[in-house]
Amino acid sequence: TYSLIPALVFGYLLGSIPFGLLLTRAAGLGDVRKIGSGNIGATNVLRTGNKGLAAATLLLDALKGTAAVLVAGHFAPDLAIWAGLGAFLGHLFPVWLGFKGGKGVATYLGVLIGLAWQVALIFAVVWLVVAFLFRFSSLAALTAAVVVPIALYVLSTPQIAGLFVVMSIIVFIKHRENISRLLAGTEGKIGAKG
Ligand code: G3P
Repeated sequence: TYSLIPALVFGYLLGSIPFGLLLTRAAGLGDVRKIGSGNIGATNVLRTGNKGLAAATLLLDALKGTAAVLVAGHFAPDLAIWAGLGAFLGHLFPVWLGFKGGKGVATYLGVLIGLAWQVALIFAVVWLVVAFLFRFSSLAALTAAVVVPIALYVLSTPQIAGLFVVMSIIVFIKHRENISRLLAGTEGKIGAKG
């Protein structure tokens, strides 16, 4: 049998590539950590005003989660979960950035695409509806993070549902400043420049 440690490390290394930071730097937009929420994710990249770069950040931050799951799963199906967890943790705590990474939403979605794509569609619908109604990326992500573990409990395996319970809790912890801002009415809306 395969050991789960290499799968975790492999996922971590993929997940720790900070695409938002790399892309904005390469485009000459400076350090994305100095604007808006200070986050390195697609939502904050959008605050630079560059939609294409924000879309690329979302795509690549998701894809690294999907790739980790699919590659590890190719070696042994049981390893997919561990590589997915690794990718998520790599995005949140990248060694290259002094362990100060992103909030994990895109990578969470990417891991979900790799493990249970039907539930990833549910994530997308929930995110889009909440984002359309309220214009807060954080609120959309937090709502999706509540719905996903419930959907997985019904539609998927206990292992995958368990992984997403853990990741949803971490997503909430990472969004504590967003939650304070949402409650205070000071959260930035999607696309508003920072
Ligand atoms: O995906 C992160 C999003 O939920 C919040 O991003 O930059 O508004 O803190 P941000």
